[in-house]
Amino acid sequence: MIRVKKRQLLLALMLLSSLLAAFGAWIALKQHSVSPVIANAPAIPNGPAVPERLYSSLYMMDKSRYAKIPTLPDVDGGAIERLHDGFVVVTGDGQFYQLDWSKTDGNLVFTKLPLASPLIDRDAFYGTGERRHRRFRVTDLSIKPSTLGYDVYVSHMVWDREADCFRMGLSRARLPSPTEQAAEAHNTWTNIYRTQPCITQPFDTVETGGRLAWVGPDKILMTLGDHGRDGRNGPALSQDPKADYGKVLLIDTRGGAEVFTSGNRNPQGLLIDKTGQVWSTEHGPAGGDELNLLSAGNNYGWPLATYGTDYDQFTWPLNPDGRTHGTFTEPVFAFLPSVTISNLIQLGGKQFPHWEDDFLVGSLKMQTLYRIRTSENRVVYVEPIVLGSTIRDLVEASDGRVLVWSDDEAVTVLSRHDVSGRGEVVFLKCRRCHDAFGNAVAIAPNLTGVFGRMIASRPDYAYSQALRTVGGAWTEDRLLAFLADPQAFAPGTSMGAMGVQNPVDRAALVDFLKTYGVSNP
Ligand code: HEC
Repeated sequence: MIRVKKRQLLLALMLLSSLLAAFGAWIALKQHSVSPVIANAPAIPNGPAVPERLYSSLYMMDKSRYAKIPTLPDVDGGAIERLHDGFVVVTGDGQFYQLDWSKTDGNLVFTKLPLASPLIDRDAFYGTGERRHRRFRVTDLSIKPSTLGYDVYVSHMVWDREADCFRMGLSRARLPSPTEQAAEAHNTWTNIYRTQPCITQPFDTVETGGRLAWVGPDKILMTLGDHGRDGRNGPALSQDPKADYGKVLLIDTRGGAEVFTSGNRNPQGLLIDKTGQVWSTEHGPAGGDELNLLSAGNNYGWPLATYGTDYDQFTWPLNPDGRTHGTFTEPVFAFLPSVTISNLIQLGGKQFPHWEDDFLVGSLKMQTLYRIRTSENRVVYVEPIVLGSTIRDLVEASDGRVLVWSDDEAVTVLSRHDVSGRGEVVFLKCRRCHDAFGNAVAIAPNLTGVFGRMIASRPDYAYSQALRTVGGAWTEDRLLAFLADPQAFAPGTSMGAMGVQNPVDRAALVDFLKTYGVSNP
């Protein structure tokens, strides 16, 4: 379910991001430049000067954002993949970047690769009057060693100008090194597979699937969405054995393909776990996003079985009961409401040992990572970790850090934050009101940058009259006084009696607040 809603939330996010950008620029000025070195590419503003915190039940994390790779307007899609200690990113419009950790400052360095976009006849596609630019896109990439170094396999849309229709394609090229010139690289794409039949107008370019995963030296799985042909809008392609759509295909890169699973809607995630099992995530309609364990030959039921409903009804008309998947394979887990689920990975545990073997699943609409603990293929719990960007893809680095690729063409790095001092620990008990937990709404004002800020001055928070009348800025003395006894400092404040009685803890906490959101202590 892909729908942008909540104009207000967006406006708030835009306001927040411009504030953060301005703040980032100020910090950059103070530190005399923090831009990464970029060859062959326009400058990519660097985010990690002020890592934000991200919290889960077991870890505090540092979140460093690298934004944003310049793309055509409103592009989404694309993917990130590991290559040794670094990474390769493909944007939705088919640009390739190599990402490496800088040996000097540890930041990510982006280098554009001399590789042509695999998108075929993109411009002709827009000649059809299709306005959703972001939808004609590259959906995934996979890198494989070859005799010449590395091959890159890419799933993407292919426009057929003559027949006025599109397919999904799998193509391969040699992965050039960043130092090659475009002319030397001579990279042309080899067609490995094209889906059947060609999808004619009117078409849905949203439910595309398009994830890749290797299951043998020449065997790759590719997920395919039903492109909205769901039995209500056109024939149900997911249940049509002659159509490739709404399936997961097992493609032999030397030629040929067979159906691996059917009855899929829009499988945006694909994972081979440590034991070799195949997992996928897929979009339901309103409700019913699924985590599936895929087995060859299974039918997952779409559009005849789903735990979701139509967008304007309390039922899915082809499955009015909606209580079971009947003779079709049940999902391992279904999300209600839908989170617009994207790709998933299984964690190795090097950076986050308590998370070893857990799944980390992305979501577009909820801008949230879901950490899923399973036991014997049963979901034990799902922990939402709000990230704040539209998560398209994610990957684990060789040292266990997690990199997220989001639809704003940004890369976010998540690493473990080892708590540095007493103040930061005391602050944990403030977070339950002052931070957003899972639900993106905090009941108290955000405290990032509170030191030196005017008292009761955040425009996004309705302060009590008591705190608003205090006046002036938050100094060390004032914070100490407020935290010793909030009601004595501002009689009637809605912070209630909550304070910090222990003077040593209080002083440590105020020391921590001086740096909170300003630098990375
Ligand atoms: C039970 C919820 C709750 C907890 C726990 C809590 N606060 Fe608050 N805090 C609030 C509320 C509500 C306000 C707004 C007060 C008002 O408008 O009068 C507030 C306001 C503040 C402000 C003023 C912010 C501004 O923008 O001027 C500071 C500073 C503050 N809290 C610090 C802390 C610290 C430090 C802790 C941890 C020791 C803490 N709070 C714990 C609810 C809480």
